[in-house]
Order: sequence, then structure tokens, then C-alpha cells
Amino acid sequence: MEKIIIDGGVALDGKVEISGMKNAAVAVLFATIAVNDVCVIENLPQISDVKLSLEILRSVGARTHITGKNAVEIDTRSVKNTVVPFELARKMRASYYLVGASLARFGSAKVGLPGGCDFGSRPIDQHVKAFEALGANVTVGGGCLDACTFGGVRPANIFFDCVTVGATINTIIASVLADGMTVIENAAKEPHIVDLANFLNYCGANITGAGTDVIKIKGVERLHGCNYAIIPDMIEAGTFMAAAAATGGRLYISNVIPKHLEAISAKIGEMGAEIEEYDDAVMITRRGKLLRSNVKTLPYPGFPTDMNPQIAVLMALADGVSQISETIWDGRFRYVEELRRMGARIKVDGKLAVIEGGYPLTHANVRAVDLRAGAAMIIAGLACDGRTEIDEVHYIERGYDNIVSKLRSVGARIKKINIPDDDDRALTV
Ligand code: EPZ
Repeated sequence: MEKIIIDGGVALDGKVEISGMKNAAVAVLFATIAVNDVCVIENLPQISDVKLSLEILRSVGARTHITGKNAVEIDTRSVKNTVVPFELARKMRASYYLVGASLARFGSAKVGLPGGCDFGSRPIDQHVKAFEALGANVTVGGGCLDACTFGGVRPANIFFDCVTVGATINTIIASVLADGMTVIENAAKEPHIVDLANFLNYCGANITGAGTDVIKIKGVERLHGCNYAIIPDMIEAGTFMAAAAATGGRLYISNVIPKHLEAISAKIGEMGAEIEEYDDAVMITRRGKLLRSNVKTLPYPGFPTDMNPQIAVLMALADGVSQISETIWDGRFRYVEELRRMGARIKVDGKLAVIEGGYPLTHANVRAVDLRAGAAMIIAGLACDGRTEIDEVHYIERGYDNIVSKLRSVGARIKKINIPDDDDRALTV
């Protein structure tokens, strides 16, 4: 079993470089199935979700070859179908992008239902709605989603009932080779959707409007391979910004797109940090007290739900009462129980958390209950004196590239240890 050990109380100081965005990388990797050629994808983060995506691609016949530190060549010409083993598909959320890619290429798909962080209900009704509009007969059962068209995907006009990143991505991929124009309305506008559209357009697709709530996909005959670099991860950048603010430190965070960070920078700035923006970097400094604030999570360009746990730590450290209103995930506040173990005073009522800040956090043994919750536990451990131990670190490694070594490089006393499962220390309470 692996643990992260933090001896906190040190102000971070130095430079960190942000890796490629997890949620863009997994979309682009699965979209290569629709490309049916050789692509080189660069700036891939070294995280387990990318490793698993490549394993799933190989399981359906793709050939992958590492061509550089963060670059992989993917040849999907030998892929014959995408019947993905259930036990593989359920290990991550983005495996369901294979449905869109397989519908585009083969006109059918059979993929195990996805997994991903457990926020309570994670429905896929809007994906099904889109696939049926595109001419597929969809059945969900036996742990699988089975979609089949007769004669291939047909173009459609789709108005999503809610803003959904995944269904927007799946629909773009599924319709990229359809015979005609598909229009998505009430589309998600996240940067990773723009990144996916740019990748597919580099491959010869004809997608316009990505980043707005109306996206048009004019189907093309075929796609061709390309070289493409994934955009930087705005949530990783936001996480380091929160860590700098929580420890009263100063970080120069490079390889970012400041525009993607606007909501995060605005909120952390409101809470007392100074943020300077450069072309592809931000400098964040926190000298004075942290100030209370309120936040409501919203689809991009609003404050991202994936920064909810991290901002909660800042609110716990700030004098006064702050609030977080979560509008995306029912189960987002699962991290609160772990933060309470560190002395945080948080009351949760449905999708509203009220945080009575200004009480010092105390080190404790905690666990990462999901990816972003794990990042918040790290920030809390860095911000308080004493030794914090974090279990279930595999969640953190799904989405953060070498976070321990990056934090060590800016002064954090943090390490990852491996405790044999039969070691009685693992039972320490
Ligand atoms: C993506 O999840 C991200 N994951 C999540 O990041 C992120 O929290 C989420 O978008 C919101 O930004 C990946 O990109 C792999 P949604 P996704 O479809 O696509 C409802 C992380 O930490 N909905 O935008 O699954 C849904 O219940 C992860 O990196 C339906 O009702 O999210 C939710 O309330 C965690 N029906 C809202 O829409 C559907 O068919 C947004 O979901 C689909 C979604």
C-alpha cells in the first residue's frame, strides 16, 4: 500500500511546470480510433489515466510506441472493433469516448460502462440521447453500452438537457465522419473540448464553434494522422496555486494558459493572494492573511467543480465563514469528512458547504476519497504543522503527474512510501 507523508508548515517557494491536461489527453487518445491513421500525441501527462487509456487502445488492436518523454505514437489502422473488456472500461470515466469513436469508424460499438471518481450518480442519458439522434440503436445492460447504426452515423441536431463535457466530446467524435452537418446546442465550453476539436481539425475534420455553446461538425470522408500537443492542465495549475496560497508561499507556475485560469485566479486573488499573469505562466504570492469568500461551481468559464476540494482548504484556513455551492456533482463533498479529521469546521447541507474558517488545521491520518479530494488532503497537510499521512494515493496518481517530486522541488517536505500490505504499521490509527 502506498502512502504520502507530509511534514507540513513550510511555505512553498520556487518554480513548477504544469503537465498536459488529463481531461484533454484522454479525449484525444480515444479519438485516434476515429482517425484510422498514425498520430503522435505530445505533452501527455505521466498519469495512470493516460497509461490506462493506452492499455485500452492496445486491447482493441491499436499499436502504441513511446517516442519521447511525454509523447506517444498511436497507430489505429489495425483496430478492427472496440469491444472493450468490462473490467478495463470500468477503471476510468473516459473509456466511454470509445463509443463515439467506434460509432464514427465502424457504425457500432460495445463498451463496458465507465467508472471514474465516485460522486454519486454519474448518468449517461445525454450520451445515449446523442447516439440515438445520430441514428444508433442503443442498449445499456450487462454492464455494457451497445450501440449499433444501420448504414453508419447520420447527422443530427442535438440540444443537451444539461451542460455535459463528456456527452459533448462523445458527440463531436461520433459525428466527425457523418454524411452531413451535426449541430450541438447547449454544448459544454471547457478548454479540453476546444483541444479535442483542434486535434480532429488537424486530422482533417471540419468542426466549428468549439468553446461556445453551439458546435457544428460537418462530416468528412476520412481523417488523416497528425502530430498534436495537449494543452496544459488548468486544474493542476489551480491546485498548485491553492497550495502556494495555503502555505503562504510564492510559486512561479509555468506552461499554463492564463485565460483558462481566470475563474480560479479571480477567486484565489479575492482570498488574499497576489497573482501576476505572463504569456504562459502565472506568479502567485500570498503574504497577508487569507480572506473568507464564497464560491459557486459552474461549467466553464465558471469556477470549476474540480477545484472545489482545493478551495475548501483555503476557506478552512481563512478567518470568517465561507460557503461553497456545488452545482455539478451530488457527491462532491465526500472529502469533507477527511478535512474534519484535520480540524476543519465544515457543515454540509446537500450541495452547500458552510466553512467556519480561521481554526488551525491539525495533522492527521487521512485518505484520498477521490482524485481532487486527494489533492486537497495534500494541500491541507502542507499547510499545517506536523506529519500528515495520506492513504489511497492511487486516486491522486490518476490525474497528477509527479506531484510529490514537483512539490519537493519547491520546498515541501513530502514523500511517497510503500508499506507492504501485511505490515502492521499499515494498521496504525
Ligand atoms: C468531466 O466529467 C470531467 N472528467 C470531470 O473531471 C469534471 O468534474 C466534469 O467533466 C465537469 O467539469 C473527464 O473529463 C474525464 P459531465 P463528465 O458530463 O464528462 C450531468 C476530474 O477530477 N450529466 O460534464 O463525466 C452529470 O450528472 C474529473 O478530472 C447528466 O445528467 O461530466 C453532472 O451533473 C472528475 N447526463 C453534469 O451533467 C449525462 O449523460 C456534468 O457532467 C452526462 C452528464
